[in-house]
Amino acid sequence: MSKLQELDKQYVAGTYNRFPVEIAHGKGSVVFSTDGTRYIDMGSGIGVTAFGIADDVWQKAITEQIACVQHMSNLYYTEPCAKLAELLCKRTGMKKVFFSNSGAEANECAIKVARKYAAEKKGADYYTVITLENSFHGRTLTTLAATGQAHYHELFQPLTPGFVHTPAGDVDALRKLIAEHKTAAILIECVQGEGGVIGLDADYVKAVAKLAAEEDILLMVDEVQTGNGRTGKLYAYMHYGITPDVVTTAKGLGGGLPIGAALLGEKVESVLGFGDHGSTYGGNPVCCAGALSVLSRIDDAFLAEVQKKSEFVFSALRGADGVEALSGMGLMIGIKTAKPASDVVKACMEKGVLCLTAKDKVRLLPALNIPMEILAEAIEIIKGACALK
Ligand SMILES: Cc1ncc(COP(=O)(O)O)c(C=O)c1O
Repeated sequence: MSKLQELDKQYVAGTYNRFPVEIAHGKGSVVFSTDGTRYIDMGSGIGVTAFGIADDVWQKAITEQIACVQHMSNLYYTEPCAKLAELLCKRTGMKKVFFSNSGAEANECAIKVARKYAAEKKGADYYTVITLENSFHGRTLTTLAATGQAHYHELFQPLTPGFVHTPAGDVDALRKLIAEHKTAAILIECVQGEGGVIGLDADYVKAVAKLAAEEDILLMVDEVQTGNGRTGKLYAYMHYGITPDVVTTAKGLGGGLPIGAALLGEKVESVLGFGDHGSTYGGNPVCCAGALSVLSRIDDAFLAEVQKKSEFVFSALRGADGVEALSGMGLMIGIKTAKPASDVVKACMEKGVLCLTAKDKVRLLPALNIPMEILAEAIEIIKGACALK
């Protein structure tokens, strides 16, 4: 083991099972390890570096902001924060934004909004948030409670009360839960990322939206992984023709700097008042300047390119040897492989391609601007790694 790996193992909390690869630098969709090995990055820091590593436009945006002011408290106005909030609202039709630093915190904000909205409208006992089985919403004690996967819960009881889970696709089960629990909100991922890159059925999502509207229950969509162009639309809910009351996002929005955002629709735009929520770093001008540059570049022409690259990947892998099924949307792609997914990821790494897993799938989340020739090179290697013969 190298000195760096020994140091990391000795001093960094052992929550990550790192691969023995030390990333030194990179550009776009290519990274180099400290020993000079070249890798194509098909994971983009788990869907974060939307425009790749050390992207010039993003770098300029953040470095210019750093030279002006790197942080101010939320007691004062800064331009990137206000401009980013405006752009997020204009691009989605939402009305207000609360900025935080991560996906989990964006979801925490959404849950607080739901609880306050329901308490004021229907009473303090209307606090239940319904989420889907197999969902993932973060690792704080509250977002773990929201996460519909029991194995994440086991060691950390008691979690925040007031969460129940329903199987995706079953409208009757949802109706039954609403009848049994005084419900504030329903929180869904349109494509379950950590759950194995599983898209929700369009009719189900429409039925959920209808039920939520009828019962005055907030419809909240977690776009932490699916958002900011990842699925070929700006936000994944836009594939489904629904209007959520709350949208949460993070990851790709910052392009590599930590930012989370809860976008509040008309129904809830005034729910959060002075003192109801806050974050020291939330709305940080450097993170917001980077996000502003990311979001400004994700226009219709760019999304059409994402879609084209997606079609290329799906058609290249469909029916390939050792590929049993494909799932996902845009450049959020799950591959059910005949071999164990972890073996495929290891084989890819040995050939210079970094991929992810999600449950029993190989998961691809490349930078949205990955050049076609690099994408094609990576897909050839992935195909080879999947193949049984
Ligand atoms: C859908 C979803 N929600 C929330 C989170 C948590 O985000 P973070 O790790 O930034 O707190 C994730 C992270 O993978 C996610 O995929």
